[in-house]
Amino acid sequence: MSSVEVPREQWATRIGFIFAAVGSAVGLGNIWRFPFQVGQEGGAAFLVMYLMFIVAVGFPAMLVEFVVGRYTERNPVGALREIGSGAWRYVGWIFVATGFVILSYYSVVAGWTIRYTILGLQDGYIADAGEAEAQFVTLASGLDAIALHAVFMLAVIVIVGAGIKRGIELAVKVMVPAIILITIGLAIYAATLEGASEAYAYYLAPEWSVIAANWTSILPAAAGQAFFTLSLGMGVMITYASYLGENRNLAEDGAIVIGFDTAIAFVTGLIVFPVLFTAGVDPADPGAGAIFVSLAAAFGDLTLGWLIGAVFFGTVAIAALSSAISLMEVVVSYVVDERDVNRPTAAVVVGGGLFVLGIPSAYDLVLLDLFDLFADQILLVLGGLLLVVLVSWFLSDLAIAELERGIGDLGWYGSAWIWLARTLVVLVLIVALVLGILDYVEFLTGPFSEWLADL
Ligand code: TRP
Repeated sequence: MSSVEVPREQWATRIGFIFAAVGSAVGLGNIWRFPFQVGQEGGAAFLVMYLMFIVAVGFPAMLVEFVVGRYTERNPVGALREIGSGAWRYVGWIFVATGFVILSYYSVVAGWTIRYTILGLQDGYIADAGEAEAQFVTLASGLDAIALHAVFMLAVIVIVGAGIKRGIELAVKVMVPAIILITIGLAIYAATLEGASEAYAYYLAPEWSVIAANWTSILPAAAGQAFFTLSLGMGVMITYASYLGENRNLAEDGAIVIGFDTAIAFVTGLIVFPVLFTAGVDPADPGAGAIFVSLAAAFGDLTLGWLIGAVFFGTVAIAALSSAISLMEVVVSYVVDERDVNRPTAAVVVGGGLFVLGIPSAYDLVLLDLFDLFADQILLVLGGLLLVVLVSWFLSDLAIAELERGIGDLGWYGSAWIWLARTLVVLVLIVALVLGILDYVEFLTGPFSEWLADL
């Protein structure tokens, strides 16, 4: 196998690794999924729970992936084969499969963001909610969507094909600062809008009665969002940490990545809600597509909305790209490490497969839901759960020793980390998995069977 002779690539700089991990974490999950989850789950009440899960579940789970990656210096399949025995050796396969499925439709949604950027620049947005909705349905599925899905996949192939230093690292060093600066700029603009103060109250002042009444739905939604937004559960952080050569302080790096990701999601809320409130759009309108419809309609209502909207959707597209390359890197690193294929070829073959797998999602929104719910609520949580169980219950000495490399003696922090992973993280993931499966069954017997019957 060539993986033995060819030395593995590494990040050129410390900041390169951090930017790549931030770029992976900050994506559609922050700028698209987060605001509509806040809207659906009752505003500030959701925000509070979400922040709790980021710290108590996301942080320990991210460190688990980091130590596995740096310890093994392998792709997720190889990494699990090295540290696991028996059936554990195959957990890496779940990661690669999950990455493949998620990226197939993630690319379709990313295509919509490109379409909406062009829309603003070309024709402007439609203020009428009904017409905006009709427009979304035309743009989000069918040939338009397939074409933009192809464009986006092509960009991902080019970057991942170019390698770690010359491709991913270079790209994220440009994209991540741009995302941060534009997001802050848009939030400052949004503060000047008429609806800003009303929006802040909704977003920032939690009503404890809302939490008390709805915690059974807020809890799993907040946990799932925390996992998704940090790119956990499918080996992205294993893969990125595997390109780390030196003895770095992984706890510090994890804290930085989480801090940036959370800050960007938070600031996005400071943009989205003032825009919606100013236009008189209800933020509780549910659904994945709704945020495109309501935001576009709201931009249609604002002075210079076409420009602000195009900048906003353009930034979402860039954020989606820096996340998509991490998803593809998981699959490509496996093919390159284990299959003796060179990187550019691997990127083209994997990208071509992803394009084909994404076509159903681009063709019909119900099929997109079919992929999204399965990957996001079942595969992702299952993969994350198995990894955390394996590392925290069976390999805790190895994990602590690896984390201490680059930090020094962790003392009781090390045990606190492992115990948090063993108990709270595992519990939260089991509950999320059960709820996710139930939800999926409901989808299959409900909307999906109706869709099948209508064919
Ligand atoms: N975290 C990204 C976002 O918020 C999405 C993402 C990238 C992801 N890689 C992932 C989610 C791996 C789960 C697992 O948009």
